[in-house]
Amino acid sequence: MSLLITGGTGYIGSHTVVELLKLDQDIIIADNLSNSSTVVLDRIKEITDKSVTFIKADICDFASLDAIFEQNDIEAVIHFAGLKAVGESNQIPLNYYQNNVAGSVTLFQVMAKHNVKKLVFSSSATVYGENNVSPLDESMPTSAINPYGQTKLMVENILFDLAKSDSEWSIACLRYFNPIGAHDSGLIGEHPNGIPNNLLPYVAQVAVGRLAQLQVFGDDYDTVDGTGVRDYIHVVDLALGHVKALQKLDDIEGCQPINIGTGNGTSVLEIVNTFKDISGKDIPYTIVPRRAGDIATVYADASVANNLLDWKATRDLTEMITDTWRWQSKNPNGFES
Ligand code: NAD
Ligand code: UFG
Repeated sequence: MSLLITGGTGYIGSHTVVELLKLDQDIIIADNLSNSSTVVLDRIKEITDKSVTFIKADICDFASLDAIFEQNDIEAVIHFAGLKAVGESNQIPLNYYQNNVAGSVTLFQVMAKHNVKKLVFSSSATVYGENNVSPLDESMPTSAINPYGQTKLMVENILFDLAKSDSEWSIACLRYFNPIGAHDSGLIGEHPNGIPNNLLPYVAQVAVGRLAQLQVFGDDYDTVDGTGVRDYIHVVDLALGHVKALQKLDDIEGCQPINIGTGNGTSVLEIVNTFKDISGKDIPYTIVPRRAGDIATVYADASVANNLLDWKATRDLTEMITDTWRWQSKNPNGFES
């Protein structure tokens, strides 16, 4: 039996594949390479000394997915494939709805056709919208404030309806908080195309000299130092959350939303100062006005993951930033170097 990993050559997918290979899982990756490279496959082999089956396929293409399920004995799917840039989703919303929503529906149709009804889905803390107060828990109302967030919320709602319609489905909707860090080998990590939108890749590129300075979006929030607070989680802890979710899928009835975060908040300036200490590099920054759509403080109540999945994040901020820095300094041009 094999696991199908959509988006498995991407940032979170590749780290999850490494953890699954350690458990001798048979893995098929389906990815259209729109935001990743096949170099990742060599790096995964270097880390684990094991190989995966890679199929270049688009989740929007029913026939390609159907062929994968025809030709392989797939028991469950981890569905990472998707577009993820909030700003870009405002510019090209139709691409986001097509890729993330229509593509997901196509995948679920093919799964249903082949009677594969075990799924772990990459959702996001973005579904908590802007009106809930942290710590955020799974019982809180959901909403979306941009097309990217809409796509995550729509797919969650599709999955709730699907599970209601057919009790054979077991679905874990993992709501990630802010994934950062990299594998401690320094061989895989995150390398966004173009100028990064997210804090950690931006800071890392300032430290390595690719970008001149960081803009800190607002220092007048009601937080420890006025800058935005987020729940940063090490990507390997997040990967291990997927392993646990897969192992517990049989105990999950219907569609279960599960926060994957540490439960701790860290401010932008705390990140900058820790990065500076660990890298020994200067991180010049200027304070600029708040970014539209940002809220002051976001962190998880992770008790459902602790209790239901028997999962807890164990890597602290020092480890997250040490691993980010190792990856960035060893691979200043990402997988191109
Ligand atoms: P990523 O871009 O590194 O990985 C996504 C992968 O999916 C890429 O390899 C890309 O080539 C592939 N892909 C995209 N569209 C596809 C399609 N139509 N068919 C086949 N493959 C396709 O992103 P990531 O950070 O690893 O995120 C993985 C998932 O987690 C995404 O669904 C994202 O929305 C979600 N998520 C990410 C974050 C984050 O901060 N990184 C936070 C919350 C949720
Ligand atoms: N920030 C800066 N300067 C930057 C980038 C970010 O000051 O150049 C600040 C932001 O204002 C925020 C914090 O750093 O306070 C974190 O910002 P990110 O863009 O890294 O992350 P967000 O929390 O805004 O969003 C991320 C993902 C979304 C996801 C959300 C919730 O990008 O896709 O977490 O999981 F929906």
